[in-house]
Amino acid sequence: MRSPLTTLPKAELHIHIEGSLEPEMMVALAQRNGITLPYASVEEVRAAYQFENLQSFLDLYYAGAQVLQTEQDFYDLTWAYLQKCAAQHVRHTEIFFDPQTHSDRGIPFEVFHSGITQALKDAKTELGVSSALILCFLRHLSAEAAMATLEQALPYRDSIIAVGLDSSELGHPPSKFQAVFDRARAEGFLTVAHAGEEGPPEYVWEAIRLLKVSRIDHGVRCVEDPALVDYLVEHQIPLTVCPLSNIKLCVFDEMAQHNLKQLMELGLCVTVNSDDPAYFGGYMAENFQAVESALGLTPEQLVQLAKNSFKASFLSPAEQQPYLQELSTYI
Ligand code: HPA
Ligand code: ZN
Repeated sequence: MRSPLTTLPKAELHIHIEGSLEPEMMVALAQRNGITLPYASVEEVRAAYQFENLQSFLDLYYAGAQVLQTEQDFYDLTWAYLQKCAAQHVRHTEIFFDPQTHSDRGIPFEVFHSGITQALKDAKTELGVSSALILCFLRHLSAEAAMATLEQALPYRDSIIAVGLDSSELGHPPSKFQAVFDRARAEGFLTVAHAGEEGPPEYVWEAIRLLKVSRIDHGVRCVEDPALVDYLVEHQIPLTVCPLSNIKLCVFDEMAQHNLKQLMELGLCVTVNSDDPAYFGGYMAENFQAVESALGLTPEQLVQLAKNSFKASFLSPAEQQPYLQELSTYI
């Protein structure tokens, strides 16, 4: 390879902006906003990040997000993440945000939306990082609440490319949100959904057939259903895989057991992503490094992952082309 791994140009397609809240910023924003955290120090916050499954993480993630109150807070959060992108050669990022995590505690849509989008604009001009925004519905809440959230987002639709589905997967299948996603597509949004992280292959089928998603977030349990693997390969429906997340949330016991390499060798369009980097121990470069060393990925496979990240993005083919061209010179 021409240069070290971290300099590969790449796109990130699975990052929850609330999950980029580093403990240092959590403590600083708590102080700034007069909020008392149940931790005495940054070290105590970090020490609490021992998760058994998705739900045990979500409980802390929603508690941490409470420190985000003002437009400036959302700006600072997003800007810190975008600076990481620039440092790690992430040239394009498609960012999830969870409106219900904020509006349900009285923060107006305008406040978090302005803070996030102003940082995205500044990153384009000051850091050369392009972006898109994906609104996620919290699937543990009702379909009616998701529909109300979609309606709140309509005045901001020009700044939001897609809708997605996150939070507690088991017991909340994609079918619960079919009407909301029908409406979202009718309003012009693309769709994605978390499926097959903890949930069964059937949830991946539902996301494809009922929600008509452009890509599947996680999807690693697809290997349990050979017909599903065939379908994903045939239609090249991308998976946004999050290796460090999968280890922290015990989807796999250790990185050496992760099926990312197997998925690639089956012909799936696999991408590498950070999910909630402040909680799971790393951003894009750390995720690439972790799979490279644990799974013994070849330089060709690493470049393929970077190429897949642009191909699976919502950039137009003309926008993808310079990145794919640059990557083709790497081997
Ligand atoms: N899975 C589901 N919901 C989430 C996640 C995740 O990894 N991160 C933030 N919300
Ligand atoms: Zn996620």
